[in-house]
Amino acid sequence: MNTKQDYIGVFDSGVGGISVLRHLRRELPNERFLYFGDSANAPYGTRPTGEIRNLTLAAAEKLMERGLKALVVACNTATSAAIEDLRRRYPELIVIGIEPALKPASDRFPGGMVGVMATPATLREEKFARLLNRFADHCQVVKLPAAGLVELVEAGKGNGIEAEELLRPLLEPLYGKLSAVVLGCTHYPFAAGTISRLLGPDTVLLEGGPGTARETKRRLTAAGLLHDGPGEIVVENSLNCARTVELCWSLLEE
Ligand code: DGL
Repeated sequence: MNTKQDYIGVFDSGVGGISVLRHLRRELPNERFLYFGDSANAPYGTRPTGEIRNLTLAAAEKLMERGLKALVVACNTATSAAIEDLRRRYPELIVIGIEPALKPASDRFPGGMVGVMATPATLREEKFARLLNRFADHCQVVKLPAAGLVELVEAGKGNGIEAEELLRPLLEPLYGKLSAVVLGCTHYPFAAGTISRLLGPDTVLLEGGPGTARETKRRLTAAGLLHDGPGEIVVENSLNCARTVELCWSLLEE
């Protein structure tokens, strides 16, 4: 077992954080990534905040035993519930939390109408209210809670007929009306085809993965902690089920 502190831990409630790992791998090809998805307890986004916080802290503790130099919380829901607790608990560690890409959306579409699709937990948290306040003058934001979509992505069905049926009542009334939709849950890029079809070709989809990967690189560079290869990816999941780990690998190549 690796005990040197040279892994970048990447955590999500399930398979969704793989959409962030795709960008991390591109940005930092020489790094060693340890991905942990807590699919046994997913979805987080419909749980009370205290439960999300406890699950996130427990997962971080397990990852820390493996020797981390940085932790990327590749889950918007876990970030909004627990990022401050994680930073307090591990003051020496680089801790990066993904958040909905509202800034890129408002920079790109000033004055535009922007949807934010996220879990009910992310949309109700104080952290999101603060983010919204920062950009309220720059664009008109429509909240789009998409309960149920995480479960379909966990089952490898993000772009299937069930996802289309689930999302139709939420998205079809907005066909052609939005400048952009922020995918504020890391599972949702794996339903991007369905979302795009329902919103029409003029709505741009934005995700937080690229910004999170750039920020991770910036922080590691500033701390002099970059690894100079060879890169490695380890994928683990609390379900201990080969199919879920295989799904992660196939989503990584999507
Ligand atoms: N992937 C998580 C996020 O980014 C949420 C998934 C869940 O509800 O468990 O918010």
